[in-house]
Amino acid sequence: MRLTILGGGGFRVPLVYGALLADRAEGRVTEVVLHDLDSARLSAVTRVLADQAAAVPGAPRVTATTDLDEALRGADFVFSAIRVGGLEGRAQDERVALAEGVLGQETVGAGGIAYGLRTVPVAVDIARRVARLAPDAWVINFTNPAGLVTEAMSRHLGDRVVGICDSPVGLGRRIARVLGVANPAEAWIDYAGLNHLGWVRGLRVGGRDELPRLLADPALLGSFEEGRLFGPDWLRALGAIPNEYLHYYYFNRETVSAYQRAERTRGAFLRDQQAAFYAEAGDPAAPALAAWERTRAEREATYMAENRESAGAGEREADDLSGGYEKVALALMRAIARDERTTLILNVRNGTTLAGLDAEAVVEVPCLVDANGAHPVAVDPLPGHATALVCAVKAVERQVLAAAATGSRTAAVTAFALHPLVDSVTVARRLVDGYTAVHPGLAYLR
Ligand code: G6P
Ligand code: MN
Repeated sequence: MRLTILGGGGFRVPLVYGALLADRAEGRVTEVVLHDLDSARLSAVTRVLADQAAAVPGAPRVTATTDLDEALRGADFVFSAIRVGGLEGRAQDERVALAEGVLGQETVGAGGIAYGLRTVPVAVDIARRVARLAPDAWVINFTNPAGLVTEAMSRHLGDRVVGICDSPVGLGRRIARVLGVANPAEAWIDYAGLNHLGWVRGLRVGGRDELPRLLADPALLGSFEEGRLFGPDWLRALGAIPNEYLHYYYFNRETVSAYQRAERTRGAFLRDQQAAFYAEAGDPAAPALAAWERTRAEREATYMAENRESAGAGEREADDLSGGYEKVALALMRAIARDERTTLILNVRNGTTLAGLDAEAVVEVPCLVDANGAHPVAVDPLPGHATALVCAVKAVERQVLAAAATGSRTAAVTAFALHPLVDSVTVARRLVDGYTAVHPGLAYLR
């Protein structure tokens, strides 16, 4: 079984490889092909993987290439985890927006639109190549903004592309933990929305919804990440637990000003942190895995630090530092490759799942997964306020897709202007000017 990882020189690749090393089952991945545009990053990551594999018999063989077509040929699974424009691009996405007084964040608001405008043309090119060179491969999309990018790729790959994110799983795990659910894997998490824009409306164990017990208990509500971010009163008012990324919507003013006050934005912090890591791991005399582990611990500990600070939410809990995105990826691959039926919250085409969205819209909902792929499960309708937000953001995504397909600057302006977190058409126009001035990857907008 061959897995190709696009963005193979990326920082999270050792997480995926670690999950593969722990998989001893029949039919597991035996060959990993790393693809990246940057050969120095590829060799640094290859050194980390070699350290990881050192004591593991039968570890998957790793090869690396900068030739995309060569990487795709013969792949059974393709993981796409690329970052168009690198972390400097992410820092620019943040800076331009914050200078206009609106949110600059990797996936949400103006920053997410800019990142989407840069990434969609590249993702579409990849999807076309996969369709031509590896038509039977399954594509697992990690690339952010994951919902939008998955939808762009689905126009060429249909249901053979599935988008993943670890935040709904992390949220479900935290809720199960505070509720004292003995076996969280057996809980049914009623989650629905778009990527980074969803709500947990229930958590069923043995057919019984345990969420009302949480919502009724302020002490329990204050004992986990989302409870501290949003505050017990707001969660009770909503009657649901939102994905942490909704903090940017419900507390937009506070998060924008916290980001403006920060000494360095998240993107700038990671850009500097990662530059130091790649320099260190590129040195054959340095212990690559130890450098990676140290860097990762620091990255996890500082995740959403400004949000937590503005909400007075304190530090992250130790249990929340392990992410889990590699586990979702591996579970998805196993379910497809070995017909190990399971339920996962994934980004797939809507069909008739969420009312208000058309069949082609990619949504983030629980899916039954088996050898035939991921099938969305029918869920209860979202309440009006959530449907409104989901439809508004999907309309923005559609403008981004139109801009990327046609090069229309007007469509790009419309994307920014229609976003609920951009409060003026004038600002939207200035954002497009600002972003095209700093990003060469947006030169296609005319
Ligand atoms: C969460 C999100 C991912 C995102 C990551 C960003 O896991 O679900 O989509 O890539 O956080 O973390 P970062 O360390 O890059 O700010
Ligand atoms: Mn995510």
